[in-house]
Amino acid sequence: MSPVKSVCFIGAGFVGGPSGAVLALKNPDVEVSVVDLSDTRIAAWNSDALPIYEPGLLPVVKEARDAEVRPQNLFFTTDVRGTIKRADIVFICVNTPTKTAGIGAGKAPNMAYFESATRMIAAEAEKDTIIVEKSTVPCRTAANMREILKAIGKPGVNFEILSNPEFLAEGTAVADLMRPDRILIGSMQTPSGLEAAEVLANLYGSWVPKENILKTNIWSSELAKLAANALLAQRISSINALSAICEATGADVGEIAYAAGLDSRIGSRMLQASVGFGGSCFRKDVLNLSYMAETLHLPEVAAYWQSVVAINEWQKSRFTKRIISTLYGTLTGKKIAVYGFSYKKNTADTRESAAISVVKDLIAEQAKVCIYDPQVTKAQIWEELDINGCHLEDVEKYVSIAQNPYDCASESHAVVVLTEWDEFSNKDVVPAKKTAGENPQQLLPSPVASEHSSDNEMEMTPADKSARERYNPRIAIKHTEAQNAKVDWEQIFDIMERPAFVFDGRRVIDAGKLQRLGFHVECIGRGNPF
Ligand code: NAD
Ligand code: UDX
Repeated sequence: MSPVKSVCFIGAGFVGGPSGAVLALKNPDVEVSVVDLSDTRIAAWNSDALPIYEPGLLPVVKEARDAEVRPQNLFFTTDVRGTIKRADIVFICVNTPTKTAGIGAGKAPNMAYFESATRMIAAEAEKDTIIVEKSTVPCRTAANMREILKAIGKPGVNFEILSNPEFLAEGTAVADLMRPDRILIGSMQTPSGLEAAEVLANLYGSWVPKENILKTNIWSSELAKLAANALLAQRISSINALSAICEATGADVGEIAYAAGLDSRIGSRMLQASVGFGGSCFRKDVLNLSYMAETLHLPEVAAYWQSVVAINEWQKSRFTKRIISTLYGTLTGKKIAVYGFSYKKNTADTRESAAISVVKDLIAEQAKVCIYDPQVTKAQIWEELDINGCHLEDVEKYVSIAQNPYDCASESHAVVVLTEWDEFSNKDVVPAKKTAGENPQQLLPSPVASEHSSDNEMEMTPADKSARERYNPRIAIKHTEAQNAKVDWEQIFDIMERPAFVFDGRRVIDAGKLQRLGFHVECIGRGNPF
């Protein structure tokens, strides 16, 4: 096969943008184009205010995009069709959200964007092309693609399909792409399939050690991505299930996770008990796996994975119930300060954030909810609550947004910590870690932000449109790099109602220190030790 000259990434989102940028940086002789149908998103990728915030991403983009230190080889464009024609390899990185209507609604992935991209490639490609599934897709998606390509592709044009799932996590995307645990490439086990896998492996080989590039059959690769996310989510649901036992017995889930994690067969990562996992991937991918099992007539397997999501839902509502019962059974008219709305720190992404469920429950109790998040805007919070079933009149009536933690907590009965932003923690800082553990005080730069948007040429039903908006909020986000000062909890205590409560859904609070100030502290996974 002739050397790769041109590569295209379809979908300039959290995956396509950073993946394209790193590939371009590491392969200066290859032209890398990242395409999207959204003008605003592409315009942002061509500016210094990138549409997503990832620590360390802007310098990577600028080096390959701006031709200041070396010839430009990274391009962001809306010319999807023209770019496909030139490409030797096309990576599909479009969104695959959970379906909101029709068969499999609430479980199956919505493959409309993925199929649309496949059809576009089939219609436009004029030479032999390798197509790479980078989006997370159900197992055997490549078989469907093959049929479409065969039916629509131009005569004489050959396609080879590879599966190359992405394992990056938001907030650490650049580090994850620069030093991946592994690169997984699945291909058909035919001579042309294996040759295509080798071509892709060579692109990665310019910065990833050969032993970290794993080649498998294509179905294993597709399934491995869902399996990895399901196993990670399952660990969190497992530790969260244990957190409930801890609260009832006086054990401390942090000590449990530490003790268990020292067993090298278990390991310490992804065992941080919390108010529940969020983000655009875990829930969607576990449901995807569960639905796949259902369609394969494996109801026990489907139920097993479904329980991972069920525990997560339960954990969120369990936390709110604890708030209500601790506050004497009523929240009516009480001001509750919510610290954090994003699904984890170092991202402004709010997709599936646990804060959405908790705030919804607090509204239902007629609490006066005041939210402070260092990166998420009011418009985004409003949109998130709206698309998750809150009536906007209720949101207007019961929810307000504060610009700082002090206005937020002033005259409140309780502070509820829902995102582990460094500024909320009063724990002693420990060195940075790549992923959450029991002491996850990561010292990464403060995040800036994201504006997700997507347009799609396919006809969409209202439900699909709402799904698209759900997964691609169009709201601009705060753009500040500043590292905010730590919350002064003594000051917070002074301005709160009495008794002053803190509910820690992220285990970032040293309860002893706050108790000495006079707070009543309730923490996920910790009950009364006496
Ligand atoms: P995203 O919503 O941020 O971005 C997807 C982009 O694709 C949008 O900008 C949209 O406009 C564009 N798009 C949709 N259809 C298109 C088309 N036909 N032509 C051109 N552009 C089109 O999504 P994401 O978070 O980057 O996720 C993409 C895929 O990667 C999903 O399958 C997801 O599960 C998977 N994934 C995501 C992450 C993550 O951390 N976000 C990590 C690993 C894997
Ligand atoms: C996840 C996977 O980690 C990544 O490999 C995949 O490619 C995409 O999905 P992401 O959702 O960005 O990445 O973040 P992650 O750090 O995994 O956290 C997901 C959620 O789980 C967050 O809400 C986080 O707060 C929560 N979490 C994580 C816990 O509650 N406890 C933990 O120990 C770790």
